[in-house]
Amino acid sequence: MATAPREQWSSRTGFVLAAIGSAVGLGNMWRFSYLTAENGGAAFVLLYIAMTALIGLPVMLAELAIGRGARRSPVQALVHFGGHAWKPLGALFVASGFLILSYYSVIAGWTLRYAVGALLQGFGGVATERFGEVATGWDAFAYHVVFMGMTVAIVASGVRRGIERAALILMPMLFVVVVGIALYASGLEGATDGYRYYLQTDFGRILSFDVLRDATGQAFFSLSLGMGAMLTFASYLSRDHHLPNESLMIGGADFAVAFVAGLMVFPLIFALGLSDAVGESTVGALFITLPTAFAGMGTAGQVVGLVFFLALMVGALTSAISLLEVVVAAAIDAFDWPRARSAVLMGALIALLGVPSAWSTDVLGVIDGVANNLLLIGGALALSVFVGWVMPDPMGEVSAGAEGVRWFFLWRALLRFVVPIVLGVILVLGLPETVASIAGLFATD
Ligand code: TRP
Repeated sequence: MATAPREQWSSRTGFVLAAIGSAVGLGNMWRFSYLTAENGGAAFVLLYIAMTALIGLPVMLAELAIGRGARRSPVQALVHFGGHAWKPLGALFVASGFLILSYYSVIAGWTLRYAVGALLQGFGGVATERFGEVATGWDAFAYHVVFMGMTVAIVASGVRRGIERAALILMPMLFVVVVGIALYASGLEGATDGYRYYLQTDFGRILSFDVLRDATGQAFFSLSLGMGAMLTFASYLSRDHHLPNESLMIGGADFAVAFVAGLMVFPLIFALGLSDAVGESTVGALFITLPTAFAGMGTAGQVVGLVFFLALMVGALTSAISLLEVVVAAAIDAFDWPRARSAVLMGALIALLGVPSAWSTDVLGVIDGVANNLLLIGGALALSVFVGWVMPDPMGEVSAGAEGVRWFFLWRALLRFVVPIVLGVILVLGLPETVASIAGLFATD
């Protein structure tokens, strides 16, 4: 175990912004939009809010309570409260961090590449071809490595000087830019059609298993839950933090950015009548449609496009930091390595693991599906059972700093019954499709 005293966040704002930075990322600005448009508009948004409140926030509170209580990285935190039988779950968290960051960083590399391209030559050319060049091959790999390098540099600098400082500088910028582009987009011709497409309500659509699973998976991914990221961030907290309030702030900000991102994306797409291209929710839909939109808007498009892709990149960076931190904190605790060495070594391994995703968007899509439908949902399921049934005194842990709160019994009941049942059903029913998607990769047809 590390001998130096454990680092702590220097302020409440620092922690909350870092956690929001973890939550707000590609999930908000890339995935939420197309899932909503595809799955029934406003009806999906309502379902998403319901799943966030009923399943997401209780799990977030659980992660925060474990992390703060144990003041250790995920593996040792679970052992601390549950004994050695729980070590494999901690190991699963670390493995999930590895896997998710390996493809997440490839997508983040695309955003970086588009931003650089916007600066140097604008958005000309045929968007689908351009996406093909950007998304796969040596170029994709190179930008993925650059992005990993930035992530490593921040994590290596420490909790306060690296992670917290990055969040304090980058997150306010991100909020301003997202709102700014949404306002700009609201003035475009076609904005109303964009809003209508985004939020046209179809309650019929949400009554299917797929949509329920998408909403739940998205809630976990977007809130960075199910693999110990929030747990690890909470391990640098002191006991005077009001965890329920801070969870609400993190969840609220995460939802707000996702929602506003939709208000920014769809008017842009509809300004040029490109709605057909969003229908097929391939991994790249937004990366093909939006550059086409920007290309059609001349100089304004070049500027807005540049700022847009930079914002995506910044959002991805503060999220990638939290993914890497899970792995790095585990390495520090397990091998007693210095932080910088852990960050560089783990970062390099993850960059290598990203190779298949950098060469095939199909592989990337399948790993994304496995991460969401299997790893995060499974991880959160195990975590809820852990806090609901195994951890000795979760109520005591969660209520430190929040003494006035009367409803923690409800939280515990949710974790004991509702969360495991809902997640269990989703996990089991979704299994055949996930397995089939993996098998599909190896099929030679
Ligand atoms: N929440 C981030 C997003 O929406 C991604 C992310 C960061 C994440 N850390 C995580 C997802 C941990 C799952 C688990 O883009």
